[in-house]
Amino acid sequence: MSTVFSGIQPTGGLHLGNLLGAVRNWVDNQGDTVGFFCIVDLHALTVPKEPGEVGKGSIELARELLACGLDPTESTLFIQSHVPEHAQMGWLLQCNTGFGELNRMTQFKDKSAKQKDFVSSGLFSYPSLQAADILLYDTNQVPVGADQRQHIELTRDIAVRFNSRYGETFVVPEAVSPAAGARVMDLQNPTDKMSKSAATESGTIYLAEDLSKTAKKIKRAVTDSEVEVRYDPEAKPGVANLLGILGAATDRDPAALADEYSQYGPLKSDTADAVVTLLEPIQERLSELQQDPDSVTAALITGARKASTTAQATYQRAVQNIGLTPPG
Ligand code: TRP
Repeated sequence: MSTVFSGIQPTGGLHLGNLLGAVRNWVDNQGDTVGFFCIVDLHALTVPKEPGEVGKGSIELARELLACGLDPTESTLFIQSHVPEHAQMGWLLQCNTGFGELNRMTQFKDKSAKQKDFVSSGLFSYPSLQAADILLYDTNQVPVGADQRQHIELTRDIAVRFNSRYGETFVVPEAVSPAAGARVMDLQNPTDKMSKSAATESGTIYLAEDLSKTAKKIKRAVTDSEVEVRYDPEAKPGVANLLGILGAATDRDPAALADEYSQYGPLKSDTADAVVTLLEPIQERLSELQQDPDSVTAALITGARKASTTAQATYQRAVQNIGLTPPG
């Protein structure tokens, strides 16, 4: 079975784009792959955070992932800082990453430009920590969007370099495009991906939001000044997004759905109904988990234990191959 690793930042709640584009595939693939799902709290620290913020966000994210159906007995769901080998391996890999390589990372350029007061060196060396996340688990595949491809390429380069300097240590992973999930766009700016950092809240549907708000957001989604319902993401991005969401939520083909509508109103109300139907059971499960915080803690302890077994073995292999002197 192939090993798949996904890292998710604990910053802000999950939204519909995360669910339809990624999390739903993870849940469906459980059992067919060995899945590691890591809440990357150490990565979240690369930009300034208030005390307590990252810890709270990590628990919220764990709860949401469990509510979406990640099964802690089938998959390994854990928090990055609970497995100290991430930080330790991160250092070993920083020492095998070129300054020039990091300097070419476009995400660093984008993110550092947005930080006005303080750009941490952690933000710069972040891809080495990401490489550690992936390489610790002998990962074969990393499902990522276009924005993360460059980091996976760098991970491969680091793995190959380390193996040639110190001997066979790491499996060289590959980036895979997430399975044909929906690419959900912002409801107000349908040419941008749905995102938690969007300019306005009304374009993003959060999994945990009040469902009456959800229906309103969909009914107010930007369309266009025509009246024709047609699946054409280039010419009619707003309408195509609604059809894509309705299709993903009801397991139907968006282009075929278009034939069933001649007006935007009914398309919007059916899409709203479908999304509400999709989110209702997730929200029920979320509120059960909120009332039972111990079960979330227990799942994370189990996850950290499972992750540690593999992470410790890989870290020891790296240290031995480098030839650091063992204690005792
Ligand atoms: N860098 C990723 C992001 O910004 C998060 C991440 C951290 C990650 N470690 C990872 C993704 C390992 C895939 C594999 O979204």
